[in-house]
Amino acid sequence: MKREVFFPGVYKLRGQPYTRSITPGFKVHGEKILRLPDGEFRHWAPEHSKLSAAMVQGLKTFPFKTGAKVLYLGAAQGVTCSFLSDVIGPDGEIFGVEISKRALRDLIFVCEKRGNIFPILADASQPQEYAADVGKVDVVFEDVAAREQDDILAHNATACLKTGGYAMLAIKARSIDSAANPDSIYEKVIAKILADPHAHLELVEKVRLDPYEADHMFAVFVKKK
Ligand SMILES: C[S@@+](CC[C@H](N)C(=O)[O-])C[C@H]1O[C@@H](n2cnc3c(N)ncnc32)[C@H](O)[C@@H]1O
Repeated sequence: MKREVFFPGVYKLRGQPYTRSITPGFKVHGEKILRLPDGEFRHWAPEHSKLSAAMVQGLKTFPFKTGAKVLYLGAAQGVTCSFLSDVIGPDGEIFGVEISKRALRDLIFVCEKRGNIFPILADASQPQEYAADVGKVDVVFEDVAAREQDDILAHNATACLKTGGYAMLAIKARSIDSAANPDSIYEKVIAKILADPHAHLELVEKVRLDPYEADHMFAVFVKKK
């Protein structure tokens, strides 16, 4: 089968993103599996993950290297975390913060199968609750449908992101204002993050997630100091 890559660790098979499973035989959400001579490949569907949608829509920045340390805010049942777990491999670490106990129960099941995801039951707007345990990370990733999406990213980047590390945010316009024009909401969210005096974030790129996720924008920042 013809194989290209989206990024190291993310393969393009039949035009779609796939990762090579670090837990062959174990599915996370009923994803399609391709069994090839060098392993089991899991379909990372853009309809089920905003990061996959961003890749398919042309994302250029992908800081999830082998062995990377990631703080993931809004881990839910661990779908996107599980694909990142394949990409960063057994030497990497993903700290998955989730506020819902119900979602965390499913996430713990995924963590038990994979040794590189660590569940944290916490409110991502209170990074002081977990920053000391997490330490400094290479990437802060946020997919939290909350009004204060901007402050959550800035405060977690301030507390946990290394200088030179990346902060990535799926902006959900409808969680902030269901009536306003999404474009004006994206601009306001990005401007607030850039204006935060402690986070020191600079905008790297932005990618629209429509048609996979209506009224969503994916924004990537780098920490300058
Ligand atoms: C859209 S879902 C995330 C889906 C997940 N990122 C994926 O792709 O597999 C958003 C999640 O954020 C969680 N959430 C909402 N507010 C939160 C907060 N303040 N702190 C932590 N998690 C929160 C919700 O419980 C929900 O599970």
